[in-house]
Amino acid sequence: MHDRVRPGTRLLVTAPSGGFALPAVHSRPIVLLAAGIGITPFLSHLETLDPASAPEIVLHHGSRDASRHAFRERIAELAARLPTVQVLDHYSRPGPDDHSDFTGRVTADRVDADLIRRRARFYLCGPETMLEELTAGLVARGVPRFDIFTEKFHAAPAPVQIPDDATATVRFARSGREVTWRAGDGDLLRFAEASGVALPSGCRLGQCESCAVPVLDGTVAHLVAVADDLPADQCLACQAVPTSDVVLDA
Ligand code: FES
Repeated sequence: MHDRVRPGTRLLVTAPSGGFALPAVHSRPIVLLAAGIGITPFLSHLETLDPASAPEIVLHHGSRDASRHAFRERIAELAARLPTVQVLDHYSRPGPDDHSDFTGRVTADRVDADLIRRRARFYLCGPETMLEELTAGLVARGVPRFDIFTEKFHAAPAPVQIPDDATATVRFARSGREVTWRAGDGDLLRFAEASGVALPSGCRLGQCESCAVPVLDGTVAHLVAVADDLPADQCLACQAVPTSDVVLDA
């Protein structure tokens, strides 16, 4: 981690706090719903469980594809050590050789009805919009709100300055649309939708990478810090703004 911290950067470290405490022992099933690096608190939870007393746990973990599947090997190791833990992977944009339990985002309707019938407790971690959608979906399926616990996970904003009068020509190559973007139009995902071009999307917070789109020409900047391994020729449309005229493969 040290090689990622710029010289002169000051880090503030505090003791653990908050109310998102997962049970190490419980008589009811525990369902964990995570998107991307929202897996982090669940990973540390799984690390601490005792195989002899761990509760029944079903983990639904959403990623864009196998190459962006955070902590995949470590989760598999932990699941192998914990016989009461079941891991179900969701890939929103799987590659041709990717294998997952579900295609698409983590949604409430993917939760086994038997878990709801047995009064499972639900722990959700990810972007706010995902938490809202999952909570609404679970409640609609009969889960009491007091059995749903949430933890927001969002990326820190990156220092991008966009002049108020910035404009750029955006060409959506596959759709054949060419439109003028202005600073007030916001991110490229919203702009594409307003321009009649449908792009895949999920969290809209730069977490799930569902909205990754190749940039065929021109440059963009991201409004939040994005994963280091995002290919240089792609952008996350929900967090990207053009910094020149651009051509998107969309
Ligand atoms: S990163 Fe999730 S929609 Fe853009």
